[in-house]
Amino acid sequence: MARRRKHISPPREPRFGLSGKLLVLTTLFIMMAEVLIYVPSVANFRVNWLNDRLAAAHTAALVLDAAPSGMVPESLARQILSSIGARAVAMKTGQQRRLLAVSDMPQEIHRDFDMRDVSWVGAIVDAFHAMTDPRDYILRVIGPAPRGGEFVEIVIDNAPLQRAMLRFSWNILLLSLIISAITAALVYLALHYLFVRPMRRITANMVWFRADPEDFSRVMLASKREDEIGTTERELATMQRDLASMLHQKNRLAALGLAVSKINHDLRNLLASAQLVSDQLSTLPDPRVQRFAPKLVRALERAIAFCQSTLSYGRAQEPPPDRRMVGLESLVEEVRETLGLMEDSGIAWITAIERGIEVDADHDQLLRVLLNLARNAAQALESRAPNDPSRDQIRMTGRREGAVVVIEVSDTGPGLPPRAREHLFEAFQGSTRMGGSGLGLAIAAELVHAHGGEIRLIDGTIGATFQFSIPDRAVDLDAHRPERARA
Ligand SMILES: Nc1ncnc2c1ncn2[C@@H]1O[C@H](COP(=O)(O)OP(=O)(O)OP(=O)(O)O)[C@@H](O)[C@H]1O
Ligand SMILES: [Mg+2]
Repeated sequence: MARRRKHISPPREPRFGLSGKLLVLTTLFIMMAEVLIYVPSVANFRVNWLNDRLAAAHTAALVLDAAPSGMVPESLARQILSSIGARAVAMKTGQQRRLLAVSDMPQEIHRDFDMRDVSWVGAIVDAFHAMTDPRDYILRVIGPAPRGGEFVEIVIDNAPLQRAMLRFSWNILLLSLIISAITAALVYLALHYLFVRPMRRITANMVWFRADPEDFSRVMLASKREDEIGTTERELATMQRDLASMLHQKNRLAALGLAVSKINHDLRNLLASAQLVSDQLSTLPDPRVQRFAPKLVRALERAIAFCQSTLSYGRAQEPPPDRRMVGLESLVEEVRETLGLMEDSGIAWITAIERGIEVDADHDQLLRVLLNLARNAAQALESRAPNDPSRDQIRMTGRREGAVVVIEVSDTGPGLPPRAREHLFEAFQGSTRMGGSGLGLAIAAELVHAHGGEIRLIDGTIGATFQFSIPDRAVDLDAHRPERARA
């Protein structure tokens, strides 16, 4: 049997395979994690930044507060303020709120931040403000005061805070990118070697195996892994081995089944002939015959029924014809005898065969062709009532046309029903007869074709006429020159 061995090349890699998806997903998830970390850390950064300013202001407040009011020289106050990065420092003690130092006090304060009591949600919201507010915003920040003071407050510009936060964000972004790249690469490599590569091996093997599931050499070689992938590989290998051996077995059985169904078909027909003879036998008055004949008839009936029921589907290859010159007249006589047409059946058997004509064919196969056609004709005629005048004749004609013998089997029956015409010569398709398997014509056609001939249904005749041709074998001109000359 021809093996399908074409697709040996390994399967094409998918354009966006597991590895690609893994890489994208890992990077995405790590970036998401980085964002989750970034938001609170930038808020924390701002809180610390402002607290540093407040701590400096706190120290300055101690100094400024200690000095008698107005005693701090203007230049020192400026120096202190610039070291804090503030425009003004004030402190509230009791009812009194005192401006300790000031340099170009702005007209307007845009935002107040109280650092004494900061919730983490508040810190995140404020950080968001600090990042998005205009650069020239002025902020007032309040923190704890020294020595019984209620609070210290400083007035600062938003710009330095914003700049520091942006620098911090930028650093975090860079760091995130580096971390993501390293982690993604590690995760990717780990997953790739642990899962993706074995998965690919399994997939490739499945595709390869499918191209020829009967080939045992394509069964997966399982690795020694103990995990799920190892189990998958071993199970797959077992499955493939089972499948391959099942297919081998199935093919053998199928070939056998097909051969049997054909043998069965013709065996059944031969048994039917034997049945006819035994029917005749049972009409003899001899008491011994009377005793045994019914048993014989029943046995034959059972055998026919058995053949009928075991006729299975499919067609097997016939052996090539074993050809020799066969006398057509005697062959047709054999057909008539095998068919067992009764004298009183009302069906006339007419032969019109050129005298002495010989066919270059396999005797048994040609007999089967003729039998199948003649039996169909007889069955068609018998479908009419016994005394119907149209139950008329089967006619066999044979003539030689050069190197081809043309044989016709015709009857005067009802002709082919449409269903049989549609599926002419197709196995199992065209039967319209009760108990017919629809193999007869298909077998006849196959055998004729094996001889290099043609078979067809001739239109426009009364009843049905099948015509087929059997050409002589091509002869070797040198070896057969004398015979050719005679012909
Ligand atoms: N000479 C004929 N006259 C009328 N109908 C025919 C004739 N020959 C064939 N047919 C029709 O063609 C159908 C197919 O014939 P075919 O011989 O392939 O199968 P079958 O006779 O039904 O079954 P089996 O396999 O037993 O021969 C028949 O059922 C019948 O209807
Ligand atoms: Mg038939």
